[in-house]
Amino acid sequence: MSKDIVCSGIRPTGNLHLGNYFGALKNFVRLQDEYDCYFFIADYHSLTTHPTPGSIYDDARRILVQYLACGLDPERSTIYLQSDLPETVELYLFFNMNAYLGELERVTSFKDKVRQNPNNVNAGLLTYPTLMAADILIHKATKVPVGKDQEQHLEMTRTFAQRFNSMYHAECFPLPQAFNFGNDLVKIPALNGAGKMGKSEGEASTIFLTDEPSVIRKKIMKAKTDLGPTEPNQRKPEEIENLFTLLKVVSTPDTVEHFDTLYNNCQIRSGDLKKQLAEDMVNFTEPFRQRIAELSADEARLRRIMDLGREKAHESARRTIDEVRHIIGYRN
Ligand code: TRP
Repeated sequence: MSKDIVCSGIRPTGNLHLGNYFGALKNFVRLQDEYDCYFFIADYHSLTTHPTPGSIYDDARRILVQYLACGLDPERSTIYLQSDLPETVELYLFFNMNAYLGELERVTSFKDKVRQNPNNVNAGLLTYPTLMAADILIHKATKVPVGKDQEQHLEMTRTFAQRFNSMYHAECFPLPQAFNFGNDLVKIPALNGAGKMGKSEGEASTIFLTDEPSVIRKKIMKAKTDLGPTEPNQRKPEEIENLFTLLKVVSTPDTVEHFDTLYNNCQIRSGDLKKQLAEDMVNFTEPFRQRIAELSADEARLRRIMDLGREKAHESARRTIDEVRHIIGYRN
């Protein structure tokens, strides 16, 4: 039995933060043992919203480095740049021929983009779902690890796959499903006492894997706290609960228990809690910073990784495109 195929695209924007790591990446790393994994940097998709990006390769490279630093393994998985795989574009063209204006216009992410940017409603934006379907189906992937916001795109992927199969009376494409990590999804809170860590809560509330120790210390010491407990064993307010959540992912169980006991005895000093959290956070993120620095300085190694990824991705994509061309009736 061959392994199930997993495929996911990574947007080359921003820097990875602790929420990305615990929410997705840690699970991506585990998937590599069980599945045949394809991970790519979605550097074509970037053009839908940034028609003239100056730094497209630098952005892709930066994100690739950060993903590798988190444990994506170019030997076990296939890790590549979307723009290194032109077969995807050919499949995108075939899907576009059978995608209807009405169904594309109804996609929520498209409607959002139109509202945000009414002066840049381009065909690339409209056909974002057909490109995403091509990304996934070029490898005949069956499992796609993505967040809830991508469910509708995946539904479209199944629509295009099924439409192709029935149109050409062929059992060519599988119907991929979103991969749900269920209980393994750890939500990392922001440092401002509200919401999830990430863009919407701002940079000061977010610990990036690239943050220097001094920056991490400063952000954590500024994190929101309350005036402290007044009664034994009282419920922790959200901002304190959040600090404990962070402590749990970067500190030892003993440390967590120590501060929990202090809290319950009303002896806790939030400054001490934050100092400990800052030091443990610095230590936890140290290996990431180190690997990021090493990899970004080694252009030759990165090139080798990208070349290997392109080769492996190409092999899988070529098989699909040859079959698709044969099914439609083109010369091979
Ligand atoms: N749309 C995805 C996002 O915004 C990125 C993406 C592009 C993707 N192609 C994909 C994800 C294929 C999974 C599979 O995050």
